[in-house]
Amino acid sequence: MIHYIMVFTDRAKTVLEIRYLLKNEKGEVIETPEQMFHRVANYVAQAEELYQENPSEWAEKFYEIISSLRFLPNSPALMNAGKPKAQLAACFVLPVEDSIEAIFKTLKDAALILQSGGGTGFNFSHLRPKGDVVRSTGGIASGPVSFMKIFDKASDIIKQGGARRGANMGILRVDHPDILEFVRIKRFENLSNFNISVVVTDAFMDALFKDDYYPLINPRNGEVVKKLKAKEVFDEIVESTWETGDPGVIFIDTINRYNPTPHIGQIESTNPCGEQPLLPYEACILGSINLSKYVKGGSIDFQMLEHDVKIATRFLDDAIDVTHYPVPEVEKMHKGNRKIGLGVMGWADCLVELGIPYNHKKAFQLAETVMKFIKEKSHETSQELARKRGVFPNFKGSLWDKRGTMMRNATTTTIAPTGTISIIADCSSGIEPYFLLAYKQRILDTEFEIINKYLIDFAQKQGFYSEEFINELRQKGTLRGIKSVPLKIKKLFKTALEITPMQHIEMQACFQKYTDNAVSKTINLPQRTKKQEVAKIFILAYKKGLKGITVFRYGSKTGTLLKVSDAH
Ligand code: CDP
Repeated sequence: MIHYIMVFTDRAKTVLEIRYLLKNEKGEVIETPEQMFHRVANYVAQAEELYQENPSEWAEKFYEIISSLRFLPNSPALMNAGKPKAQLAACFVLPVEDSIEAIFKTLKDAALILQSGGGTGFNFSHLRPKGDVVRSTGGIASGPVSFMKIFDKASDIIKQGGARRGANMGILRVDHPDILEFVRIKRFENLSNFNISVVVTDAFMDALFKDDYYPLINPRNGEVVKKLKAKEVFDEIVESTWETGDPGVIFIDTINRYNPTPHIGQIESTNPCGEQPLLPYEACILGSINLSKYVKGGSIDFQMLEHDVKIATRFLDDAIDVTHYPVPEVEKMHKGNRKIGLGVMGWADCLVELGIPYNHKKAFQLAETVMKFIKEKSHETSQELARKRGVFPNFKGSLWDKRGTMMRNATTTTIAPTGTISIIADCSSGIEPYFLLAYKQRILDTEFEIINKYLIDFAQKQGFYSEEFINELRQKGTLRGIKSVPLKIKKLFKTALEITPMQHIEMQACFQKYTDNAVSKTINLPQRTKKQEVAKIFILAYKKGLKGITVFRYGSKTGTLLKVSDAH
């Protein structure tokens, strides 16, 4: 039994004990959460020594923001800091080149990353299509989808021994000859270790808007294999997404317009949840500020936010220096660009504390104000670090170089899903609205009932709390149709399916405007949503300048691990 001094929910305690706290050989937990936070803070602060700074001074500062649950780094940092193989990054992208040797080298690298708790994105578009020639054997190629299946099977086996299920993202360009097979795959096969996304180009979107044809190109020789109506492929994407939640869409030209290091390479993939576009062999360490902790006297305490953003940014930069990289090529690339991704969680909680409904004009304005502030302060910190520690090694020729801004990191901001760290911090995840106000969640053998703590507080203070109210809430999950609840409260606690798709997109766009990397957000739709609506959402997302989009229709089939709560 471990003795808790800090206050955690039972659900957080279970998650911590199963996956995060250190255990002895007998499998018994041998540290408290405070000790875990010290382990993380002390380990990462060791990097300060490299720059002639005082590690214990910084360890204390890191511990203070982490143990107060105002900032948490991504799960691998919490789990692995201080261990012999301290791999601290959550996000990776590996190249998949068109030879058996290259494919299986990548599979091996992916296995090592998965084992360390990281998630990997793969773009399979360089592989020659199914049925194409294989000169060395005189045989025929089996195509990208068949290799993705091998990666999926391998992940099944590897994750059995790991601390958590690392995830994968499988990607194919819309102009690859096997695109239709890829787009449809989740309708017929489980591939439970993969999220899939189609890389959509501006040229494809132009063809779609003109109702034109576009070419499918064999990556082996650059030849046009055939032409398809853009609308035909787009409709298939919509159909599969409507039915299974996959594929998502990645707007690659938008991503590359913001690629800070085009002289190092073009971005062709993102990490598993889509929030982190990366070059082949690149990694990123994420961390999130818990916005629910900054509401003081009816407004946001920007002074405290500035203080914490600066320390958190420095923590993430330090984390790169003390990470044990499972793959040498990744170490070189990550240390060359030094990408970090500071983001937020607890956004829905923060809005409720401020009394602003998630889909109110003020919420969208505040999203921009808060994220702009975080981005500016974290860039300022990266610039200060650059003055003391030097710019990132690939700086020369980068967009930062062209702008004349010295930076320690090619990027500093990303909005992660925060699937598990938000459970530990007991806040709403990422920038998502509440999905339900009362629900049950199973973690291994234990079932937890979660009832929104802010709602209970409001109910008690405003006099609508009763046994009957809680029972009705348990049944419905939302406030819709519960007569005892004032209209104002109903508006304040709108859940994901009561918010329009356009409002979901608007919120994603507000955060994207001030985020260097991308934003994790699911556009949750009611089961009755029509396919045309999904099509409209994709087009709006493109026009709004988003880097990618994930849509999930309630009740649609999904075998995808990151859409179910037990993934974390
Ligand atoms: O909350 P936590 O730090 O555990 O992770 P998250 O914010 O939900 O996810 C951040 C990233 O971690 C994902 O985009 C993946 O790259 C990776 N991840 C993974 O590989 N496997 C999981 N089961 C969860 C996350």
